[in-house]
Amino acid sequence: MNRGLNRFALLVACATFFLIIAGALVTSNDAGLATNDWPLSNGQVFPKMVGNLFWEHGHRLVATTVGLLTIGLTIYLFAKEKRQWVRRVGVFGLFAVIAQGLLGGLTVKLMLPLAVSTAHATLAQLFFCTTVGLAVFTSQSWLEAKPTLEEKGTIPLRYLCTAALVTIFFQLILGATLRHSATWDKPLPIELVLAHIGGALAVTIMLGMASSTVLRRYKGEQFLTRPATIALGLLVVQLFLGVAAYLTRSASPKDPQPLNPMIGITVAHVACGALVFATTIVLTLRTFRVICVRDQALNLSPRVVSN
Ligand code: HEM
Ligand code: HEM
Repeated sequence: MNRGLNRFALLVACATFFLIIAGALVTSNDAGLATNDWPLSNGQVFPKMVGNLFWEHGHRLVATTVGLLTIGLTIYLFAKEKRQWVRRVGVFGLFAVIAQGLLGGLTVKLMLPLAVSTAHATLAQLFFCTTVGLAVFTSQSWLEAKPTLEEKGTIPLRYLCTAALVTIFFQLILGATLRHSATWDKPLPIELVLAHIGGALAVTIMLGMASSTVLRRYKGEQFLTRPATIALGLLVVQLFLGVAAYLTRSASPKDPQPLNPMIGITVAHVACGALVFATTIVLTLRTFRVICVRDQALNLSPRVVSN
């Protein structure tokens, strides 16, 4: 295990989480068009950070830092990481961050069209999860874990976790569509609110099933129970934040400008959504790592053990 590489991957993941918060602050402050210029801001590399330009240009600066860190991580992976598939995940992350930067520029140039802003919000979550994945794959606990646990139920746990993950991903897309369908001074479209509430129900059922199955079947296996418990806790927080986001958002068109608590709560809801997704990714990857399907149980191939 290369401790330096793992720490660097963790740093990139944490910086990306901070970037998601910085991006959400742009949207909640209605600062997306603080400048309609890109890649410069009002023709400058460092404009005066006044008014909404603080959020917009600040987000670009954080994004540039994350872009540079991702390039650094890819080089680090090519220098120190022996597993080719992990290096490939790093290259995927690099392409994702480049595409994300271009989408960010496009959303400004096209004056925040729904499809581009939603794609930018969704790719942000995918990129974040790629960085979380890299931190997991390079960690000591991943490298030391062996596929020793048996699949105990009729529905394999890995399928339950994957289904929860896919449901959350669709919910993130729905949330982004909802959020970008109306600026702070307009009411949210009710049909999208209802679809998002339906999505919340689906996530609660799927993640609830996956996590409770982990806690029932693999009691004492902290490698699995810890992310399952954290994911459940974050889901509860996310549901409360969702209701609070709806209430404050419904009141916001009457405000003279985007005000707290609407800004704080909607940003927290976006950030917690990213954390629910990330912990479910960790849980899902870990089930694939330590629970063996029947053939593997009989014949542990060296490839499975060494990865
Ligand atoms: C490179 C990595 C980047 C990441 C991970 C990222 C992430 C995000 C996130 C999470 C949001 C909030 C979405 C929401 O609240 O629904 C956002 C908003 C935004 N980002 Fe980025 N961003 C990146 C780069 C850029 C760049 C280079 C620009 C260049 C202009 C940019 C421009 C914007 C704008 C204008 C918004 C507000 C969109 C709106 O209000 O409709 N982003 N970004
Ligand atoms: C499983 C639980 C949930 C998840 C994972 C989730 C996720 C998200 C995400 C990620 C966004 C923003 C997407 C983006 O722009 O990047 C969002 C927006 C939103 N969500 Fe949820 N959500 C959940 C439950 C709820 C619930 C129960 C409500 C209650 C009505 C709710 C209300 C909202 C509202 C009002 C917005 C738009 C906020 C705004 O306009 O700024 N969410 N959701």
